[in-house]
Amino acid sequence: MRHRTILGTSVALTELGFGASVIGNLGRPTPDSEAQAAVDTAWAAGIRYFDTAPHYGLGLSERRLGTALARRPRDTYVVSSKVGRLLVPNPRPQGRDPEGFAVPDDHVRRWDFSRDGVLRSIEDTLTRTGLDRLDIVYVHDPDEHWQQAAAEAIPALAELRDQGVVGAIGAGMNQSTMLARFLRETAADVVMLAGRYTLLDQGALDDVLPTAIELGKSVVAVGVFNSGLLSRERPTTNLTYDYQPAAPELLARAEAIADVCEAFGTTLPAAAVAFPLHHPAVVNVTLGMRTPGQVVRNTTLHDRPVPDGLWEELRARRLIRLDAPTG
Ligand SMILES: NC(=O)c1ccc[n+]([C@@H]2O[C@H](COP(=O)([O-])OP(=O)(O)OC[C@H]3O[C@@H](n4cnc5c(N)ncnc54)[C@H](OP(=O)(O)O)[C@@H]3O)[C@@H](O)[C@H]2O)c1
Repeated sequence: MRHRTILGTSVALTELGFGASVIGNLGRPTPDSEAQAAVDTAWAAGIRYFDTAPHYGLGLSERRLGTALARRPRDTYVVSSKVGRLLVPNPRPQGRDPEGFAVPDDHVRRWDFSRDGVLRSIEDTLTRTGLDRLDIVYVHDPDEHWQQAAAEAIPALAELRDQGVVGAIGAGMNQSTMLARFLRETAADVVMLAGRYTLLDQGALDDVLPTAIELGKSVVAVGVFNSGLLSRERPTTNLTYDYQPAAPELLARAEAIADVCEAFGTTLPAAAVAFPLHHPAVVNVTLGMRTPGQVVRNTTLHDRPVPDGLWEELRARRLIRLDAPTG
């Protein structure tokens, strides 16, 4: 699989990445054996970038990913994790984690973007994964914490990067505006942009993507199915957009895009995976993968060539923005 390098760093990512939130039991339980098999299948398919976070299953995603990668040579893959939520023992466990993961609520998340919080979070991640280092560290969802994340978390990460402890640093969020600020106003090298550069939402063309180009920084695109609506060949009413029921006009637009894809001999999810990789600031698309079957499907989508004329047709029908790079 082809690699692209995060500009200004020596961290090279495979074009397709493995999003490990789902193996933290996102939405429903996934057996250990299936999670391990998903990572093994991703490895066999050539994927060498793996993204996780303490948030994902209260540490389960990090533990499972670390176990699955333990026997691989450390210099042959890239792992990112995130800081901003410390996991602390839950004084009053009630049963199941209330934040969407099918795990026991034996810990709770405590927001913390302080320097000490960042260092402790990384130590905890290294313990859970069993890894000796992280290649990339993102501040995670600092929407309500700009001040502390920019003033304390990023400088703490920059020190680690400058000491050679981590390879690249940045921020991961579901919005593009603040990510542009991280690139412009802090020492971030790369941002993980969730759901804002997809076939249904190209808002990032107004802020973070041109900012990355201007400053020589990079973008990892995730949530490229907008949480589900773009993940099937034919969109259906039960699929979500940004983790909520999809509005009728979005469903209609997804259907119209699917029609064009079908007419050109490809599929909606294949186009959804290919589209962000055409932007010169985007170095990787990372997809959530829970089972070996999903890994096989997602790597097949990535391998599928984009038919000539597809983007031009979508542009002519005003289904994607005229200024979205596609060539
Ligand atoms: N703030 C942040 O930094 C941030 C935000 C979002 C994501 N991320 C990262 O990006 C990764 C990917 O994000 P994501 O998982 O939210 O979005 P995604 O990859 O766009 O996947 C979202 C949905 O697509 C479905 N899907 C994926 N592969 C499929 C397949 N082969 N067949 C059918 N359905 C498929 C999943 O179904 P099922 O649920 O049924 O399995 C899921 O509902 C995460 O794992 C995480 O590493 C980071």
